[in-house]
Amino acid sequence: MKILLMGPPGAGKGSQSEKLVKDYELTNISTGEMFREANRNNEQLGIEAMRFINKGKLVSDKITNEIVRKRLLRPDAERCFLLDGYPRTVAQAEALDTMLDKMESKLTAVINIVVDKQAILERMVGRRVCKSCGLSYHLSFKPPKQQGVCDACGGELYQREDDQLHSVKNRLEIYETKTKPIIEYYANRGILRNVNGMQSFDKVYEDIKKALGEVA
Ligand code: AP5
Ligand code: MG
Repeated sequence: MKILLMGPPGAGKGSQSEKLVKDYELTNISTGEMFREANRNNEQLGIEAMRFINKGKLVSDKITNEIVRKRLLRPDAERCFLLDGYPRTVAQAEALDTMLDKMESKLTAVINIVVDKQAILERMVGRRVCKSCGLSYHLSFKPPKQQGVCDACGGELYQREDDQLHSVKNRLEIYETKTKPIIEYYANRGILRNVNGMQSFDKVYEDIKKALGEVA
């Protein structure tokens, strides 16, 4: 199974992929998480990328395509993977096609989580993320058992810099102009399914599983 999980920032891609990768034994490839991890490890790539990320801008296609290309070549991505947050531009979608062609592979399903703007804002403003393991919470919708502490690893929870309002606005604008056109790119292939993201975590998950049953 080779799945692409799409949707606007804050749609719930990361939340849903946590369960999907476990249940379907998929390798999780989240470009946003890869950049944040590189930054946590003080790698040059991560430090450079955060300059764009914190402002709500995209990292260049060249850099992003290259980290994904290298990641896809690792043995754990050979059979099953879930892409979260990549591709995000038509140029990246075309680059991904080239990479997969070379690997004699192709996507089996594209799931697009649909959420309205008001919900996106609420979700991003209330989100808290673990500094150590990257797991995400929400102050109202998914609070940790102990305030400020990750349930899974005990790490400290923080608010992502790009969840500040000025960055959120940029991210939404970029989503509309650069990322949305990809929906059509995949819809034309018949492997895209829209899922209503304005439901409980469990209901969204159930609908994603149903959609995967249809196409994957
Ligand atoms: P990335 O980390 O991918 O951010 P994003 O796409 O903006 O998406 P988010 O992670 O903000 O949201 P999500 O959909 O994962 O939602 P989540 O599950 O956390 O990328 C960050 C940045 O990196 C980009 O802006 C860009 O700069 C750069 N980048 C990454 N990929 C790139 C690429 N390909 N090219 C160029 N640059 C790239 O949920 C959000 C909140 O809502 C959480 O608090 C959660 O608890 C809550 N929530 C989720 N689902 C529900 C629900 N059903 N009900 C109630 N609350 C919910
Ligand atoms: Mg995410």
